[in-house]
Amino acid sequence: QVAAASGHTVVLVDQSDEILKKSTKGIEESLKRVTKKKFADKPEAGAEFIEKTLKNLTTSTDAVAVVHSTDLVIEAIVENPEVKNELFKRLDKFAPEHTIFASNTSSLQITQLANSTTRQDRFGGLHFFNPVPMMKLVEVIKTPMTSQKTFESLMDFSKAVGKSPVSCKDTPGFIVNRLLVPYMMEAVRLFERGDASKEDIDVAMKLGAGYPMGPFELLDYVGLDTSKYIIDGWHKLEPNNPLFAPSPLLNKLVEEKKLGKKTGEGFYKYK
Ligand code: 3HC
Repeated sequence: QVAAASGHTVVLVDQSDEILKKSTKGIEESLKRVTKKKFADKPEAGAEFIEKTLKNLTTSTDAVAVVHSTDLVIEAIVENPEVKNELFKRLDKFAPEHTIFASNTSSLQITQLANSTTRQDRFGGLHFFNPVPMMKLVEVIKTPMTSQKTFESLMDFSKAVGKSPVSCKDTPGFIVNRLLVPYMMEAVRLFERGDASKEDIDVAMKLGAGYPMGPFELLDYVGLDTSKYIIDGWHKLEPNNPLFAPSPLLNKLVEEKKLGKKTGEGFYKYK
């Protein structure tokens, strides 16, 4: 959405037409929200902006078939290194020589993903934040193999889509998640110990620390499955780090398919 809105030609790829239909509808709704504010006094210009953006966007269920026409591939699939590596390996065979590959991974090592391809110098991290149309930050990750040219292209692309990039080495969680995920897990542990209710913890962090959402609202918003993938991955890397300890409550909710806002229930229930 943000790439198409800033004039880039985008092919959105997903597993089925049904998912793509749902995604396109989500983008249309989000564009309406953005436009309402940006073109408050000019509804016609707003309608034109939406039409132009949607014209820049096509969809496909076949990544291999469309990758030949790309300059940049941004992968944002499930947080599973085997699945990501498999996809990158396949795309590497069919993508043009100059095409840069980037992963939007929240927590996995970019170096390891890059190693599934033959273009380690044209590979980096491009980490966006939910909700992407609103959040101004992008973390740009340079591995020891990422070329300076690739890094600069990723920084330039981030600016071209209207974001403020920061750079970080290829370390677990980069900047934001390295701080945010342990904080959210501490909130879950506080609740699990019965020290405070989830509602009070959320109110406390909003009113006492000025956060726009409390940790439980944010966990539900990000997705409990994604949060679990992140913490499980780090726990494997550093089993003795108490900040990365898994939570029985989070595991139970994920097992019950209560994944947060997207499934209608997580820590809270949604209509
Ligand atoms: N698309 C377009 N616009 C959106 C939107 C979306 N998906 N979601 C919200 N907005 C807009 C609304 O239209 C509204 O615009 P307005 O000011 O013109 O009315 C504005 O954002 C504010 O929305 P709301 O009034 O509905 O609600 P809030 O004031 O609470 O703002 C929020 C919503 C921007 C999501 C805010 O609560 C927030 O900043 N929350 C924290 C989000 C956060 O921490 N994100 C990072 C998560 S971590 C992550 O993503 C990393 C990953 O790897 C795990």
